[in-house]
Amino acid sequence: MDEIIIKGGRSLSGEVVVGGAKNAALPILTASILAKGKFTFHNVPKLRDIDSIMELLSTMGADVDCDGHTVHIDTTGMNHYEAPYEQVRKMRASILVLGPLLARMKKAKVSLPGGCAIGARPIDLHLNGLSLLGADIKLEHGYVEAACKQLKGAEIYFDIPTVTGTENLMMAAVLATGTTVLRNAAREPEIIALADVLIQMGANITGAGTAVITINGVKKLKPVTATIIPDRIEAGTLMVAAALTQGDVKIKNCDPIHLKSIIHKLEKAGARVQVFKKSVRVKGQKTINSIDLKTMPYPGFPTDMQAQFMVLMSVANGFSVISENIFENRFIHVSELCRMGTDITISGSHAMIKGVVQLSGAPVMATDLRASASLILAGLAAKGTTTVSRVYHLDRGYESLEKKLAGLGAAIKRVSVKKKT
Ligand code: EPZ
Repeated sequence: MDEIIIKGGRSLSGEVVVGGAKNAALPILTASILAKGKFTFHNVPKLRDIDSIMELLSTMGADVDCDGHTVHIDTTGMNHYEAPYEQVRKMRASILVLGPLLARMKKAKVSLPGGCAIGARPIDLHLNGLSLLGADIKLEHGYVEAACKQLKGAEIYFDIPTVTGTENLMMAAVLATGTTVLRNAAREPEIIALADVLIQMGANITGAGTAVITINGVKKLKPVTATIIPDRIEAGTLMVAAALTQGDVKIKNCDPIHLKSIIHKLEKAGARVQVFKKSVRVKGQKTINSIDLKTMPYPGFPTDMQAQFMVLMSVANGFSVISENIFENRFIHVSELCRMGTDITISGSHAMIKGVVQLSGAPVMATDLRASASLILAGLAAKGTTTVSRVYHLDRGYESLEKKLAGLGAAIKRVSVKKKT
């Protein structure tokens, strides 16, 4: 088990490069199930979640090879249609194999992902959509068993604009007969990135990035070479780190169009943000203004940036209110932040944050991916030393974050700790 130790109080400065987007890479890697042959994907981040999906694809018979940030997948020999519990429980986004398996193999047996720290994470919208496309769905012994003769296009309305639900249904519909229309679809940049790869493979999709996506089924798709888009949440996390430490940081290889809501909120909080074609420069100011925040589906403020912004608000002037509207239990980081001297009160889906002058370093424990990032940010701003344990949560979604922060002048290092027997 590793720990990350931070000596707070340093201002970050310099340049840092953002890696490929975890939440774009995961559906794009599973889209390879849809066609036989050799795929190559560039700018794939080295993350535990990526390792998990690659392991899953290889247990299904794909040949998978990682060469740095390039991944080669040969799906010619894919012959299994099962995603076992031991794999899915490690990474719930494994549910993204369901749609492509049904489309390509006409059957799928995928373990129900179950909940996670931030919420119940149901998949009812995924399953309703697949049954509308003609799949026969059975839930038995903790598994989804799905089968079909041939998926047929349908009108599907999502009660909630679900990101992986939109991705699963888009992948199921590309080989269906006829036309599928997804209404109230998610509009995240990762949806557009997946649609771009599917179109490159020969799919007929219009409207990705809007609330209505139309898919005209085709007979066959072909393997492709593609590059993963930059990770907007990693970029946002680094932007908050610059603002929090009164730093001056240029975040490179990002797409400012994906960062609009984050830039807007950071500027309202008093940071100076310069926008270039593929980078942003963030200059933090001595005074941080308290602002209110509501997490919403894209293009609203991303829930994956809520914990990071909470740290910024914890040392702002005055009171802020953060409303978490996406997940029912995404304030787990608050108890650990309170141990570092924050003044935060939770009431239902709202967090009331009273800015304090200074945080104090403390031993804290990560509980989920974005919570671990927030604890590291708090350590950067705190007086004294912070030790973050269970950083395996961090490794799911951030590639060498401590090295990137050290490159910007932070006093931060990772140490391995022998497991206490
Ligand atoms: C994706 O999760 C992301 N994961 C999450 O990122 C992100 O927080 C989330 O979208 C919201 O933006 C990946 O892309 C791999 P949803 P997803 O389906 O698709 C409810 C991270 O830190 N819902 O959009 O699972 C659900 O409970 C992770 O990188 C249903 O009720 O989220 C939630 O309240 C965390 N039924 C809301 O919809 C369903 O069938 C949005 O969830 C599906 C979802």
